Amino acid sequence: MISYTKQPHEREYRLIFKNIDREGWDPSIDTYMSDGGYDDLKKAFTMAPKDITEEVKKSGLRGRGGAGFPTGMKWTFIPPNNTKPIYLICNGDESEPGTFKDRYIVHQDPHQLIEGMIISCFAVGAHTAYIYLREEFPQAALIVENAIEEARAKGFIGKNIFGSGFDLEIFVHRGAGAYICGEETGLIESLEGKRPYPRIKPPYFPAALGLYMCPTIVNNVESLCHVKHIVRMGGDEYAKLGVARNTGTRILCVSGDVKKPGYFEVEVGKVTMRELLYDMCGGPKDGREIKAVIPGGSSSKILKANEVFKLRNPDGSERELNFWDIPMDFDSLAACGSMAGSGGVIVLDDTRKMSWVLNNLNAFYAHESCGQCTPCREGSTWMRKISDRLVAGKATPEDIETLESVAYQIDGRTICAFGEASSWPVEAIIAKFRDELLADTHENIPTAITNPEAAEQ
Ligand code: NAI
Ligand code: SF4
Repeated sequence: MISYTKQPHEREYRLIFKNIDREGWDPSIDTYMSDGGYDDLKKAFTMAPKDITEEVKKSGLRGRGGAGFPTGMKWTFIPPNNTKPIYLICNGDESEPGTFKDRYIVHQDPHQLIEGMIISCFAVGAHTAYIYLREEFPQAALIVENAIEEARAKGFIGKNIFGSGFDLEIFVHRGAGAYICGEETGLIESLEGKRPYPRIKPPYFPAALGLYMCPTIVNNVESLCHVKHIVRMGGDEYAKLGVARNTGTRILCVSGDVKKPGYFEVEVGKVTMRELLYDMCGGPKDGREIKAVIPGGSSSKILKANEVFKLRNPDGSERELNFWDIPMDFDSLAACGSMAGSGGVIVLDDTRKMSWVLNNLNAFYAHESCGQCTPCREGSTWMRKISDRLVAGKATPEDIETLESVAYQIDGRTICAFGEASSWPVEAIIAKFRDELLADTHENIPTAITNPEAAEQ
């Protein structure tokens, strides 16, 4: 029986995280192979590349980086008459606040990622692949570089893998600490040695015109790991995990105000908000109540505890869904006006002031805007300045209106999704906690009492 140093919760279904915190486990290739590692790669090389893509399509796998785009479909967007080199990039930038899953894979199970990448490269016809790791993972870069050398020594990377005539090189590239390098086209610019200004898409997505203007598949660390399991299980079998349109497993990272925060791999959609936060995370701290949850990384819209959502059934009728009963899957969270995003579930209890939460998020986005387009560059800074005033007890009620107006003017008017990522939290917090924010404006609160320092200025 496998024994874990940190026992997985009984509700977990560990596929990707099977080896994370596993007793006696180390990231070496010998340990990995002693447990069947690289067997799925051997199987993949007995298959035709297009059949692997077909299995990934059948599996229903949706990208685990945040957008939830179908992985197999993305692979098929490589132009059929392409004559240029094809690249595969593993996005290991993992910079979305509240998200901490990929780092465990690259630290503790790098060969799972490499095996998934080699299979994916074989499927899409990429002979060069990059693993883009954020600067803040320096140890991970060393571990993965070592793992690549181990895989090369076994003949899994390099020339003529398994005598198939297929050649592959994998390189590690380290970022320099910018959130925007997690946006796939910003990442590609960075990899090309340029400032990471995201590119306009559509019309051209990386699968058609990416790195060096060649077809490029960009997939998240966790997504690439799933590929090896799909090859082993077969797409149909994999699709039995999870629920319809939301298949497989995914890792949820819970942080904030619960008794037992951490990472939990679950079948997608098989766990509700209540089960995750109470059964798996032990509920709120004693004497506290959960006030709100940001369900999919900081870019997702906040959900208020006890909110009731009106959802439309396929036949056009309506039904109600309580916050606590939301299944943690892509479609359910989207139907509730938020998103499953990168799986980073941030829990806020009743001690958290929403003006502080808002300001914290605004400070992050104002700092991380790449500055390429005006609504985002200027708007994110305006939003931060207004919420700075709010937490200092110096904002007026009109400031809340201005803040909301700035957010809506950023939304949908920027080059990349960062614009929405910065405006959605503001829009949602104001819509759901307007009275609380208004109570923090200076007409309602004696500044000298709440913030003596601000009162002196
Ligand atoms: P997106 O929806 O624009 O694209 C998703 C993927 O599908 C991309 O790879 C894109 O190239 C591809 N795609 C979409 N439509 C396509 C088409 N018609 N043809 C070809 N390919 C197509 O979303 P995006 O901007 O890539 O990701 C945004 C998400 O990233 C956010 O929802 C956020 O949750 C997440 N995120 C995650 C971070 C992390 O640390 N994991 C960091 C920052 C954001
Ligand atoms: Fe840069 Fe923001 Fe424009 Fe994206 S939306 S390109 S992050 S300025």
